[in-house]
Amino acid sequence: MYSEKVMEHFRNPRNMGEIPDADGVGRVGNPVCGDLMTIYIKVKDGRLEDVKFKTFGCGAAIATSSMVTEMAKGKTLEEALRISKMDVAQALGGLPPIKMHCSNLAADGLHAAIADYQKKQQSRK
Ligand code: FES
Repeated sequence: MYSEKVMEHFRNPRNMGEIPDADGVGRVGNPVCGDLMTIYIKVKDGRLEDVKFKTFGCGAAIATSSMVTEMAKGKTLEEALRISKMDVAQALGGLPPIKMHCSNLAADGLHAAIADYQKKQQSRK
């Protein structure tokens, strides 16, 4: 049911863990399946210097979180905001249709972490 790439990221997730002094944190959940994902970002000179995740969810949720951290690292905030759930699913060689919502969680989590960072920057001004 899953592509080789999904299985590979599920077995060896990249960038798993927390960033204790993160510049932005995005927490998202899916009310239907109950899965939860937290994305942590570290920003330097307008770029994502580090991205990590903690996910309590299905295999696809773990694989998509892992993939989204890899895709986002080194990107500018604007570029990272343009990463869509389709991009994540495509980078993983596709997801079964009933699992597409899992990649939504990853893209939303990343975008929420960036929004959190931007909000913190605003309140600092
Ligand atoms: Fe809920 Fe995958 S089944 S995120």
